[in-house]
Amino acid sequence: MENKKYGHFDDAHREYVITDPKTPWPWINYLGNEDFFSLISNTAGGYSFYKDAKFRRITRYRYNNVPMDNDGRYFYIKDGDTTWNPGWKPCRTPLDSYECRHGMNYTRISGQKNGVEASILFFVPLHKWCEIQKMTLRNQSNETKHLKVFSFQEWCLWNAATDMENFQRNFSTGEVEIENSTIYHKTEYRERRNHYAFYHVNQEIQGYDTDRETFMGLYSDKSAPDAVTEGHARNSFAHGWSPIASHYLEIELKPGESRDLVFILGYVENPQEQKFESKKVINKAKAHALIAEFDTAEKVDKAFEELNEYWDNLLSVFTVKSGDDKLDRMVNIWNQYQCMVTFCMSRSASFFESGIGRGMGFRDSNQDLVGFVHQIPQRARQRIIDIASTQFADGGCYHQYQPLSKRGNNDIGGGFNDDPCWLIFGTVAYIKETGDFSILNEMVPFDNKPGTEVKLFDHLKISMDHVINNLGPHGLPLIGRADWNDCLNLNCFSWDPNESFQTTENQGKGSKAESLMIAGLFVVTGKDYVELCRRLGKPHEADRMETAVKAMENAVKVHGWDGEWFLRAYDFYGEKIGSNENDEGKIFIESQGWCTMAGIGLKEGLCDKALDSVKERMECEHGIVLNNPAYTTYHVEMGEISSYPEGYKENAGIFCHNNPWVIIGETVDGRGDDAWNHYKKILPSYVEEKYQTLHKVEPYVNCQMVAGKDSARPGEGKNSWLTGTASWMWYTISEFILGIKPSYDGLLIDPCVPSTTKTYEVNRKFRGGEYHIMVNNPEGNQKGIKSIMVDGKTINGNIVPAEPGKHEVIVQM
Ligand code: GLC
Ligand code: GLC
Repeated sequence: MENKKYGHFDDAHREYVITDPKTPWPWINYLGNEDFFSLISNTAGGYSFYKDAKFRRITRYRYNNVPMDNDGRYFYIKDGDTTWNPGWKPCRTPLDSYECRHGMNYTRISGQKNGVEASILFFVPLHKWCEIQKMTLRNQSNETKHLKVFSFQEWCLWNAATDMENFQRNFSTGEVEIENSTIYHKTEYRERRNHYAFYHVNQEIQGYDTDRETFMGLYSDKSAPDAVTEGHARNSFAHGWSPIASHYLEIELKPGESRDLVFILGYVENPQEQKFESKKVINKAKAHALIAEFDTAEKVDKAFEELNEYWDNLLSVFTVKSGDDKLDRMVNIWNQYQCMVTFCMSRSASFFESGIGRGMGFRDSNQDLVGFVHQIPQRARQRIIDIASTQFADGGCYHQYQPLSKRGNNDIGGGFNDDPCWLIFGTVAYIKETGDFSILNEMVPFDNKPGTEVKLFDHLKISMDHVINNLGPHGLPLIGRADWNDCLNLNCFSWDPNESFQTTENQGKGSKAESLMIAGLFVVTGKDYVELCRRLGKPHEADRMETAVKAMENAVKVHGWDGEWFLRAYDFYGEKIGSNENDEGKIFIESQGWCTMAGIGLKEGLCDKALDSVKERMECEHGIVLNNPAYTTYHVEMGEISSYPEGYKENAGIFCHNNPWVIIGETVDGRGDDAWNHYKKILPSYVEEKYQTLHKVEPYVNCQMVAGKDSARPGEGKNSWLTGTASWMWYTISEFILGIKPSYDGLLIDPCVPSTTKTYEVNRKFRGGEYHIMVNNPEGNQKGIKSIMVDGKTINGNIVPAEPGKHEVIVQM
């Protein structure tokens, strides 16, 4: 396989620079971080939405199209007989130069053709409901250029799902208005809707189009719209069919001259009584106000500077200087950035998630939290309360909720028995970061029903109890519908290919199906819960749960150990899964990860053995596979996992999300070299250096899955961006490898590094203090602290107390 490079990191600008538009897959970025969001690929493909990618889709996108990634915000530049786009697509006219720079919530795409350069900066200004596209045109030739510029966007009729299916209706509903250089999209505004969108340019236009077929021609495609080919707009006015927005501009540029144009794609909501300016005419006051805020290049530049300052600030909370650029750029820039994107998007909108399928996951959102709680603690606090509000009174939870309504999703329901534990995981992370115990006194309802509120602390308590109340014959947790592995469906028994494994009736009654993954998770979060209870002065509750945790550890040792590794589960009938006795699926990653993280049998050497077995059986060049060997036939008693081809997804793919569990397990066991080796195999910057063509997806972020060693193409990545891998990678490197762990009283310092690491520095802002932490490891140890000096004084133990002001911390390993 060829090993071509399509781009490189530019750390000084916090950018990834793509130098060839024909990337092996569209390489995307995210604009916006609050309400208005856009996805943008390296050729300007993608779409925008307001808050909810399903219900408030602003521009249209056709997934899995031919050619790939064929909808976006496009600019056609007609210069004599040549028509080109700065981002190469959709005309695909060969450019004299091309560059795409993906940065922190902005993207800059520049193209050059026949002496003209067009560079476009795309971003969403902080707290605004719009995408700015600032285009700079430069004439670098010796002749005067007469350019014709056509902008192009296609509107989505708001609901992204029905937009793709209900054509008998959709083709009659589209409505627009035009006022000077602004095109308004107001489909359905008259009845229940209170919102419209607009597309504006800060200059007088020479024409426009709003009807797609008139602009494009019914049998032409985006590479050569009829209007562009003929060189003039048709001034079409859309009635139904497919409304678009296209400005037509004639621009003269003298040699050396340049021109800035500001395009704004905006979204507006109006109060019911102020919807109209006159009969049927939308009230444009808010659109005018938004346009006025960005009507000059200077105003745009200022907003862009504010966005960059926002990121300076977010990324200043934790920085490392390790001497390894590849590590530093992931820790200081891209890993933290990806965590913020998963905070904003959960699993909704990417080039692998259509934005119409999934809400916010109970377990996913709690795990995501450890990736951004240090950056935006206030928003993390709200997120915890939103999540907890979808819990049931018995401690069970809705598996997902909708971001607009914040209500539990009845289509998916509940019964995933790992879910409750994650609430403890998320809440404890929040309190340790902030020291804010008051969150535990917040009154939080069950299933969002007013009148049912109890303290958040009681939600944690019933979460623990939910596990204890649902133990199976071996004293291990019953798995319910599924645990973390959505595809290990032990109570599903589906023979009907038309039903979804995720939602089909759970046949769990009388089931003996138990999960070692939940057992480990229970021990880890249970210990956190016990520590919290002691802190809160609840010794009886602490003792009660300590007993339950010990019982669980014991059950794992007695019934969960297979001889060389931890079992994965017992099935409905009480048969072993993930055992040497099985022909396929002899060993699974989840239980090795969680039971070693929990340190179960650490002293007896069980963790060592389990981690060695992982290395021996599951590790490969590209990471650790989920199970081994892969299943080659369908097992009705295991469900979806055994329906996937070998080496993909949950059937022995490298599910990056759970690699960090093993890595953390290695650090618990003090094996820094092994931890580091596993870590760097899935660290994007190490992968980007090694191979881009095979890996396919973006080299600056983690993807959910890399094809495993049993697959046809080991190393091929899929499902980039929206994955729990982001927060787990962050949690692993910051707290377990570099070893800077927030704790109730301060920063607990406990590194576990490869023996080649001799020194590194971390700057950490924490509860009003700023810590410069210098770690020295002259003897090349992997774990263990000799001494810690804070501001010149040696402290007892390894917790650097939380105190405002600047502090110098020197750590000797
Ligand atoms: C996906 C889901 C997550 C699940 C995992 C394993 O990443 O978002 O909830 O735990 O797959 O099945
Ligand atoms: C599919 C995916 C899995 C995901 C689940 C829930 O089964 O393979 O990764 O967690 O759907 O949407």
